[in-house]
Amino acid sequence: MSEYCIELNNLTKRFGKFTAVDNFSLKLLPGKVYGIVGPNGAGKSTTMAMIMGSLHPSEGTGNVMGHQLGSEEALKILGYSPEFTSFYDDMSCVEYLWYMGTLGGLSNEEAMEKAISLIKKYDLVDHAYKKVSKFSTGMKKKVSLAQAMIHDPKILLLDEPTANLDPTSRMEILDTVREMVQERNLTVLISSHVLTELETVIDHVIMINHGKLVMDEDITTAQERFKQGILVVSCDNNELLLKELERKYKVENGKGTIRIMTSDVNSLKKEVVKLIFENDLVLNVLHEEVLSLDLLYKQALEGENK
Ligand SMILES: Nc1ncnc2c1ncn2[C@@H]1O[C@H](COP(=O)(O)OP(=O)(O)OP(=O)(O)O)[C@@H](O)[C@H]1O
Ligand SMILES: [Mg+2]
Repeated sequence: MSEYCIELNNLTKRFGKFTAVDNFSLKLLPGKVYGIVGPNGAGKSTTMAMIMGSLHPSEGTGNVMGHQLGSEEALKILGYSPEFTSFYDDMSCVEYLWYMGTLGGLSNEEAMEKAISLIKKYDLVDHAYKKVSKFSTGMKKKVSLAQAMIHDPKILLLDEPTANLDPTSRMEILDTVREMVQERNLTVLISSHVLTELETVIDHVIMINHGKLVMDEDITTAQERFKQGILVVSCDNNELLLKELERKYKVENGKGTIRIMTSDVNSLKKEVVKLIFENDLVLNVLHEEVLSLDLLYKQALEGENK
């Protein structure tokens, strides 16, 4: 059997004449957390729906641990929290989770046991008998995560689990994901628009734009590859330093600091120190900037759109 737990081979999805996903190939290793990022309409949800088998690819094939996409065996392995979850209006939280458990192949008793344990785990005990349709956005996201976990899947697909949440609820959801990954050695594919928040969770970044794969890399390799070298400097006369440096470098004047881009950070460091010394300036700040996922994303998409 293949070492990969999900393999997508040249998947294409067309809606009429429009190509939403275009010759998309991907291999996911077990036990890793993958972030799928891309602008609105890039094809993230369509890709997840094809993995779940709820959308049939126009072309291409794929498998989940050797089982064809959409097969009963594949669905048992997958847990899915969709971008928009529709809850049955008159079901309470416990009823809904129990029902989803029975749909996932659990017996009535097993489903009830699992529903109750997830309700405890996700801190929903006080709301267990209230209608999910009346829950707040954050609580609904938690219920959506709980239903994705109800049949103990090996792979989780989370489509924007933190969308429209306040920062505290976002952190809570991401902490839960982190915890689940550690406890159960899950493989996770998680999409989000808030790229910087994924940085703390993912091992690997997949970037998609206009339905095409733009990047598929280990997060640290990706950061390294795009590392331009940004030096952040501040002294007691930033104007003077700025004037000297902007002749030769791309420079941004920030709030009290200057950001200088270069492909050779070491030479730049020497030059800055020399300028500081020769002009009798007082150096307050000098550090290299760690490339954020947001910047990486911007750079990758700019490269793609050229
Ligand atoms: N059922 C459908 N019929 C027609 N077009 C569709 C359908 N589903 C998706 N699309 C189109 O396919 C493209 C990709 O959509 P998709 O929802 O996969 O993007 P996304 O990356 O998830 O975007 P978002 O970040 O907004 O959630 C979009 O242009 C969308 O309008
Ligand atoms: Mg989407």
